[in-house]
Amino acid sequence: MRVFLTGFMGSGKTTVGRALAAAMGWAFADLDAEVEARAAMTVREVFERLGEPAFRELEHEALRAVLAGDDPVVVATGGGTFTFDRNLALIRGAGTSVWLNPSFATIVSRIGSLGKQDRPLFRNEVEALALYRARLDAYREADFRVDVGAEEAPEEVAARVAVWLTAVASGGVLGGKPAGPPGR
Ligand code: S3P
Repeated sequence: MRVFLTGFMGSGKTTVGRALAAAMGWAFADLDAEVEARAAMTVREVFERLGEPAFRELEHEALRAVLAGDDPVVVATGGGTFTFDRNLALIRGAGTSVWLNPSFATIVSRIGSLGKQDRPLFRNEVEALALYRARLDAYREADFRVDVGAEEAPEEVAARVAVWLTAVASGGVLGGKPAGPPGR
């Protein structure tokens, strides 16, 4: 089984993904980290030196590489991965997707100034809000949505998703559409 976490920058995909993979005893892959390993540069450097189209190409290649394995895996995608049809098509055919959905205010408070340095597309709150709004429809393409509270720790979110995922993976609900991760 493969689970893909999507959501805007700062929604907790990497932290929740890592905790979720540990809870499930599954592998964990982070597309941004895969891109950085392939390019031997940080994401910011890829944007600055090669440009966004090159980053998107690397991101797509990283996704394909992650799909080559057969082991159960939690994949943290990047905030833009879902907005490209070719990525979405691959993800749809490969597993289950979950949108981590904190409010935009929570995202901003989590990103802080350090996070902005790492994220070339999070220049300021005004631009980021426009990007967030433009992307909501893409995130809605995920199979399930997990609303994340402002005070909720990534481990709590991961535990919530893990309980649900264990039920899904153990069989019963796989035939029909499972109810989705429990709400808070
Ligand atoms: C991006 C999000 C980043 C990273 C790159 C582009 C985006 O990932 O892939 O900076 O387009 O939203 P995170 O969502 O993990 O920050």
